[in-house]
Amino acid sequence: MTKPLIEALKGKAQPTAPVWLMRQAGRYLPEYRELRKECGGFLDLCYNPDKASEVTMQPIRRFGMDGAIVFSDILVVPHALGQKVEFLEGEGPKLDPIRQVEDLRRLTRDKFHEHLAPVYETLRQVRSKLANEKFDNTALIGFSGAPWTLACYMVDGGSSRDFIHTKTWAYSDPNGFGDLMDLLCECIVDYLSAQVQAGAEAVQLFDSWAGILDHTMFSRWVIRPTRKIVEGFRELHPDIPFIGFPRGCGRLALDYAQNSKVSALSLDPQTAPKWAANVYQNLMPVQGNMDPVCLLSGGLTMQSAAEDILVHLGKGPFVFNLGHGVIKETPPEHVEELVQMIRDWK
Ligand code: CP3
Repeated sequence: MTKPLIEALKGKAQPTAPVWLMRQAGRYLPEYRELRKECGGFLDLCYNPDKASEVTMQPIRRFGMDGAIVFSDILVVPHALGQKVEFLEGEGPKLDPIRQVEDLRRLTRDKFHEHLAPVYETLRQVRSKLANEKFDNTALIGFSGAPWTLACYMVDGGSSRDFIHTKTWAYSDPNGFGDLMDLLCECIVDYLSAQVQAGAEAVQLFDSWAGILDHTMFSRWVIRPTRKIVEGFRELHPDIPFIGFPRGCGRLALDYAQNSKVSALSLDPQTAPKWAANVYQNLMPVQGNMDPVCLLSGGLTMQSAAEDILVHLGKGPFVFNLGHGVIKETPPEHVEELVQMIRDWK
């Protein structure tokens, strides 16, 4: 069976643009907040397949999205490697930082898949819920954080503006830092591959902090590891679309598109749709890229932003999305209106 999202990601323009939104499941949905209350910590929810599969389905039931992204987090990967990861209420993630090559001894791959088994089970459950509830056009998306972005959290130990510890390690000891990146590359290939075996029909690699590197570091720590992962993944799953999301890197996204070997490029809001159509969509299918704040604002501004995107990108292989995740204050009605507009677009 052909699903519009998968067809678009394979390079076939669709009469109606398939749509899904990053962070489409989450705190802006009352049904998520309700279910979240029952779970204790956020990671408990990620490792509870019954609940995580329900949360994954929530935006599908509400809006009929073309993509269902498995509910989890990028930080389950360092957690599965034995690093201490916590989500403190209202504070974001906290990790026990790894700052030098000796600290790598604290990481182990011994229980990697065992630890992530609940995520694979969530994927299986979502696939069967999609089939049972007749969402025949909705494709299941797996994901991972990219090595650079995972390293940012693993080394700095949480959210940061500039990830100074991570960058300093990468500059001062590229070989030691490279060992961490190599480990992550191998684990991510395994992880994405296991997600496909559990039912993922496309995968996305989130490089949320790709934009803090200069061009030399960008080649070395964003493009090169991504290419390694894509090559490893393609050997195992040649037909599964691979979306890359190098957020905030401006014109370096062109180097990424040309050299990382991803099959589709997810664009941030800074990229003008018209320019993206000429430059990126000639190379590969693109996804994006409405500003999440524009969705939060809604109304005519949102409509004209959506129109700008659809006019320029809608004719080629394209997936409608935001340029970053849904913000938690977003009224769900705005999402509904946006999806309707995309569906009605001629
Ligand atoms: O619907 C989906 O998109 C699937 C689930 C998903 C989550 N996180 C759930 C989540 C996905 C794909 C992610 C990716 C993720 N996680 C990224 C990459 C994309 C991006 O946003 O740049 C990053 C950097 C993370 C790490 C992370 N997770 C941070 C920094 C935070 C705290 C900030 C915040 O928004 O609270 C999280 C928490 C998180 N991940 C929540 C959700 C729904 C909120 C936690 C809660 O419900 O209490």
